Amino acid sequence: MPVASRPRKRRNKPLRLLQFTDLHLTGDEEGRVKGMATLASFERCLEHARRHHYPVDAILLTGDLVQDDARAYLRLAELLSREEVPVHCLAGNHDLPVEMEGLLSREPFALSPVVQSAHWSIVQVDSSVDGAAHGELSAESLAFLDDTLGRFADRHALVALHHQPVPIGSAWLDAIGLRDDAGLFEVLGRHPNVRVLLWGHVHQAFEGMRDGILLLSTPSTCFQFVPGRDDFAIDGRPPGYRWLHLYPDGAIDSRVVWLPEDEWP
Ligand SMILES: [Fe+2]
Repeated sequence: MPVASRPRKRRNKPLRLLQFTDLHLTGDEEGRVKGMATLASFERCLEHARRHHYPVDAILLTGDLVQDDARAYLRLAELLSREEVPVHCLAGNHDLPVEMEGLLSREPFALSPVVQSAHWSIVQVDSSVDGAAHGELSAESLAFLDDTLGRFADRHALVALHHQPVPIGSAWLDAIGLRDDAGLFEVLGRHPNVRVLLWGHVHQAFEGMRDGILLLSTPSTCFQFVPGRDDFAIDGRPPGYRWLHLYPDGAIDSRVVWLPEDEWP
């Protein structure tokens, strides 16, 4: 994966983030989804990140934390109980938002949609639609985003959501992406402080630019989908995650990390 945008001044300390997405954890410890033991797979990603990319300032979980099973939130809470930094969670199409809010209500979890640092704000918007695979942003969500970006206009902004807001060139996935993406980009267009849009859902790495905004998607911590295929197909690529360094001057350094083969579950 190419470098997103090279920081100009490395001496300035960045905000350090880790993104894990599409964990698809099951309620049963040995549960598998598409043949992958998702709990073990996320654990391996977490251990890898702890060895190679800690310390960090915050962790983002960008949806599909569980596979339609609320018991899996308890497993997630166990796995992350010793984290010393906030873990920010977004709902995806396989999440149960009410149960998620109830079961992840304690530290280190933080369901607040806005994260602030001296130079950056991270704004999370919920694109999940009850009972549907595609995503939508309600008028309230767009108004909230517009208002938040305006209130913190003096800081750079990263906006995170679950569904892809641009086509990624895979017909079956693009049919279940974010609908009315024009509404989102209309809001973003009013705020020149927005630097990055970050999402999950597509189980693959993607990098692009639109209107000066860096577009990033991240592989799942379990199974991946084959990029560029119009029909559903599982990829043979390993579990993955992403780190991001957000610099005070607005520069971004970010990489996708693929789990080495000998660390697959
Ligand atoms: Fe997913």
